[in-house]
Amino acid sequence: MIENEILKNIKSRRSVRSFKDEQINEDELQAILEAGMYAPSAMNQQCWNFTVVQNQKLLDEISQNSKDVGKSFDNDHIQKLANNERFHAFYKAPTVIIISGEEKAFLSEIDCAAATQNILLAAESLGIGSCWINFAMFAFSGEQGETFNKQLGIPIGYTPYCSVALGYKKVETLNALPRKEHIVNYVK
Ligand SMILES: Cc1cc2nc3c(=O)[nH]c(=O)nc-3n(C[C@H](O)[C@H](O)[C@H](O)COP(=O)(O)O)c2cc1C
Repeated sequence: MIENEILKNIKSRRSVRSFKDEQINEDELQAILEAGMYAPSAMNQQCWNFTVVQNQKLLDEISQNSKDVGKSFDNDHIQKLANNERFHAFYKAPTVIIISGEEKAFLSEIDCAAATQNILLAAESLGIGSCWINFAMFAFSGEQGETFNKQLGIPIGYTPYCSVALGYKKVETLNALPRKEHIVNYVK
């Protein structure tokens, strides 16, 4: 199998859910954000917006609110997490990036997902732990959503679609989980 640094990085990235308290370095954060901005976007609209949140109190509030909303979500796994007192939607990561997309733009939610994946891979390449977090997005669909939008300075007309928890890893990650087989079909 062909190997290079990028392929190795893709395969070694894992979701990290336990972080050191130490804040990540500013230069590393800038490199991670830039990687997000270099994602492809439909018709090159780049209709995304990145919010870096390093205010633990606000992250705690978003986490708690997402749990309150998640309690009545029609999914056992989500309800179990929402009812777990020890569960923190961002795993107490020191930095969270919220990726919002312009509501009126064509396919902006998918653009945001592409930017999110770039962010995860950039973090991994710098030895920084990351986890894609969509649970916390419940907070923006609840009654408090508009208040959080204002507190975070999300531009008007944009919706938070994805978020990433970032921080130095408390423990080194294991190899990737086995991949599903028989999911490729060739037509020649
Ligand atoms: C769209 C999306 C949403 C996700 N949301 C969450 C989340 O809210 N909380 C969480 O802990 N992990 C979340 N994850 C991470 C997945 O659980 C994880 O990627 C998956 O279990 C595979 O593990 P790996 O990332 O280590 O390969 C999300 C991943 C994706 C792609």
